[in-house]
Amino acid sequence: MSARLIDGKALAAQVRAQVAQDVATLKAAGTTPGLAVVLVGGDPASQVYVRNKAAACEKAGMHSQVIRLAETTTQSELLDVINTLNHDATVHGILVQLPLPGHLDSALVIEAISPNKDVDGFHAINAGLLMTGAPRFRPCTPYGIMKMLESEGVSLWGANVVIVGASNIVGKPMAMLALAAGATVTLCNSKTRDLASHTQRADVLVVATGRPGIVTGDMVKPGATVIDVGINRNADGKLVGDVDFESARQVAGAITPVPGGVGPMTIAMLLMNTLQAAQRLSPTAAAQTEQ
Ligand code: GUN
Repeated sequence: MSARLIDGKALAAQVRAQVAQDVATLKAAGTTPGLAVVLVGGDPASQVYVRNKAAACEKAGMHSQVIRLAETTTQSELLDVINTLNHDATVHGILVQLPLPGHLDSALVIEAISPNKDVDGFHAINAGLLMTGAPRFRPCTPYGIMKMLESEGVSLWGANVVIVGASNIVGKPMAMLALAAGATVTLCNSKTRDLASHTQRADVLVVATGRPGIVTGDMVKPGATVIDVGINRNADGKLVGDVDFESARQVAGAITPVPGGVGPMTIAMLLMNTLQAAQRLSPTAAAQTEQ
């Protein structure tokens, strides 16, 4: 058996087209959604991600602004930049690209972003809202994964969802979204004993560890849906995920490729969150809620 490929690129294009339509409506009502992306230092992968995010915004008709800061930027300089963006009415979404250089405290930086502009959904208030089942901004990667599962007709109601990797960016919010959708969730981490005994029970397996090949075909339940969040470069310079694609596709029912799977969805959902932020913050939206 060879698994069906889940085409994240095609679905992301659909989401982006829908967002572009809604952006046009909002612009006609006088608000152009704006995203500010802050990049500290010159990490090559982060530079590519940031460029792609800004380009996607422009393509959807939104305003985008990339603020590039030196590697040596101090904590208080960065907090000043965030404070200015918090008060800038043309900016509806703020994203600080992670990871930050080691001398900066990511947690403090994230908490400085206005929760109403936190389109990553990483602020403690937004993480708390997600945990209590009333999300405001869903973190983009797990949000994109939920959209993919929905579009594939994969129901999480009563399903075993196993997540490998417990980061704040992917694993933990993915667990909350899957739980809210009625799944029985197992959240594995780097200390998990006998990982295969967990992954083999997964109807839906989400892998987000940054370790290429951590999941192989023998660890996958026959017919399972496998979502590979990893983006790694192997010794030949080729992009590969965290899942050993060739062996896993022989066993899975459906699987995401790398590249062209989860990656494009993350950007599409960032646009969706920025649109939603602008809708919530726009004067017309405020007037509507006052009525
Ligand atoms: N670095 C890797 N993924 C992400 C993300 O989703 N948001 C931000 N801000 N940084 C990241």
